[in-house]
Order: sequence, then C-alpha cells, then structure tokens
Amino acid sequence: MRLFQLLNMRGLAPHGYCLLWDPLLVWLHVVADAIIGLSYFSIPVVLAVFLARRRDVEFGWLIALFAVFITACGTTHFMSILVLWVPAYGIEGLIKALTAVASVLTAAAMWPLLPKLIALPSPRQLQQVNEALQLEATERARTEEQLRQSQKLDAIGQLTGGIAHDFNNILAIIVGNVDRAMRGIDNPDRALGALANAMEASQRAAGLTEQLLAFARKQPMEVQTHDLNIVVGELAKLMALTVGTQAELDLRLAEEALLVDVDRNQLEAALINLAVNARDAMPDGGRLTISTAAAGPGEVVVRVADTGTGMDAKTLERATEPFYTTKPVGRGTGLGLSQVYGFATQAGGRLDIASEPGEGTVVAITLRRRQHDQ
Ligand SMILES: Nc1ncnc2c1ncn2[C@@H]1O[C@H](COP(=O)(O)OP(=O)(O)OP(=O)(O)O)[C@@H](O)[C@H]1O
Ligand SMILES: [Mg+2]
Repeated sequence: MRLFQLLNMRGLAPHGYCLLWDPLLVWLHVVADAIIGLSYFSIPVVLAVFLARRRDVEFGWLIALFAVFITACGTTHFMSILVLWVPAYGIEGLIKALTAVASVLTAAAMWPLLPKLIALPSPRQLQQVNEALQLEATERARTEEQLRQSQKLDAIGQLTGGIAHDFNNILAIIVGNVDRAMRGIDNPDRALGALANAMEASQRAAGLTEQLLAFARKQPMEVQTHDLNIVVGELAKLMALTVGTQAELDLRLAEEALLVDVDRNQLEAALINLAVNARDAMPDGGRLTISTAAAGPGEVVVRVADTGTGMDAKTLERATEPFYTTKPVGRGTGLGLSQVYGFATQAGGRLDIASEPGEGTVVAITLRRRQHDQ
C-alpha cells in the first residue's frame, strides 16, 4: 500500500518547476545527465564483451556485479531527466535505493579482493617469467644433447670393451691350442687335433670381424637356405669350447632336415652369444644342452639351455634390451641377447626365454621352416 502511494505523484511539481523552467538550466541538466547515463550504459556492454571473450578470467562475478552497479547508476541519471517534467520522485527514489544496494555489494566485494588484485601479475612480470622459462628450456635442451653425446661415447666404450672381451676369448682358445700342439709335437695326432681347434677358432674370429664390418657398413644380409642341424652341429664344438671344459655339452639334433632361410653368420653369432651367456651363468660348470626340433606348423626351433644361475623377473624382462647388462664393465656390453632378438625377428621368427633364479635358462629361437618343394 505504502509502495503504491510512493508511485502516486499526488500534486507534486516536476523538477523543472524548481529551475523556474530556465531553458539554459534545464538543458544543461538534460545534456549532462544524458551524457553520463549513456556513458554508464556503455560500460556494461564493454564488460560483457570482455567476459564473453575471456572466459578464463578470474573475478568474473565481481565484474558482473560492477556492471549491474554501473547500469543502475546510469538509470538514475535518466530518471533525473524524466523528473524535470514528470514528478516520478517515488520511482526515482526506488531506483536510487537499488543503486545503493548494488553499490554497497560491489564495494563490500571489492575491498577483500584488494590484496589479490594487487598480486595479479602484470604483463611485464609475465613476460619476464616467460623469458626465464625459455632460457631454462634452451639450457635443458643443451644438457640433454650433452647427455646424449656422453651416452654415445659410453656405448662406444662398452662396445669396444665387449669386442675386445670376445676376441680375447677366441685368442685364448687359439693360444691354448697352439701351445698344446707345440708341446705335443711328438704326438702328431694330438698336435693336429689341437691345431684344428686353433684353426676353427681363427675362422670364428674372421667371421666376427666380418660381422663387425657388416655392422659398421650396414651391409645387407646374405639370406640362404640352410639345414639348421648342419649349422648347429658344425658350431657345437666351438660352443663347447666357449663354455669351457668344466661344462658338459649335450647336443640333440632332430633326425629330419630342418631347412631355414637365414643369414648363416647371424645365426652363428646368435648361437655363440647364447653360449657366452651360458658360460657366464655357469662359472662352476654345468650342462649346456643344444637341441633342434620341428615345432608348430611350419616352424623349427633351436634351444640353448644351461643349468646356470638363471635370471630374476626384472633381469628377464630387460634381458633383450640393447646395452642392458648385469655384468661388470669390460665383461658385458649387453648386446648379446639384443643381437639374438634382432636376428630372430628379422628372420620372421621369435625369441622366447624361460628362466628362474637357480633353475637355469632356456633360450628358444623359433624360425620359419622352409618346405622342401618351395
Ligand atoms: N643364460 C643366462 N643365464 C643367466 N642370465 C643371463 C643369461 N643370458 C643373459 N642373461 C642376463 O641377461 C643380461 C643381458 O644379456 P646379454 O647377452 O644381452 O648381455 P651381456 O651378456 O651382459 O653382455 P654381452 O653379451 O654384450 O657381452 C646379462 O647381463 C645377464 O644378466
Ligand atoms: Mg651376452
């Protein structure tokens, strides 16, 4: 009821009456209030566009509140123009009251935010942080490059050490056999046997050199059809020499021919790598079992099993990784099994390793079998 009375203009005089309708005075008020009101009304538009474009902006609600406040302020100025002619003082008062509420809310919201607003980073500060970050990124890239270089050098060092180690093993076989031949010269049969061993080891060394050169030049593989039994059978003696006299060799070749299309050098290198691993796993001797067999449809498998230390799960998981080794520097490069893996997969086959600590290791290379009539 009271509100209704507020809207009733009763016999009130318009504000222009107070100004005695002096045109200059009236129009001064009209123009000034209109300009202020329009300016105020334009500000929420600016804020709305800003908020729409920058949805990520913090304090968005404060900006919205400010827009309401400024709109109310603008409206009061248009009311001032209206009341010059129409004595709607009740409505004008109500709008002023609303403006008051909006202004109090805005002010009350702004004061506590002051520390946060002050702490907002300036574009200049942001740029400085950005520059620092970029500097750090460059620095990191350089460090990474240095690390890569040193890792490369490390790998080359390990590789060289590993090759020297392998050659030393072969040399030991040659020197040992030549020595035996020289001391047993009065027993021609023994001397010849020893010399034959020395010769075989020398040929192996030549093969190894060839492989290294092929690796260095990335020569294409020389894939030919071979009987797995013949390759394994001929290499078994060298494998036995590799594991040493303390270990027994058990050779179990399949009776049927097992034809495979492989690079013989690579296959031999893989078998030697497996023999070297078996030797390292059986420092106190044991049994090395080498077997060939037909497996699955159109597949053959060559297994190299030892009764050595075996591998724990972690080692087994990483064993074929290039450069993964548990052996001391100079003893292992960690390339043995990765070569075996590379050979098996390149030949279209696969590599399976079964091992448990204390239970020995079985490495199986499965290859595609070549049929006779192919
Ligand atoms: N027969 C095995 N018995 C026990 N552990 C083995 C056997 N074969 C491989 N391993 C483990 O797997 C690791 C990787 O073997 P891999 O042949 O790739 O490298 P390596 O023997 O350490 O060095 P490299 O062969 O290059 O001289 C070895 O260090 C060893 O821990
Ligand atoms: Mg090895």
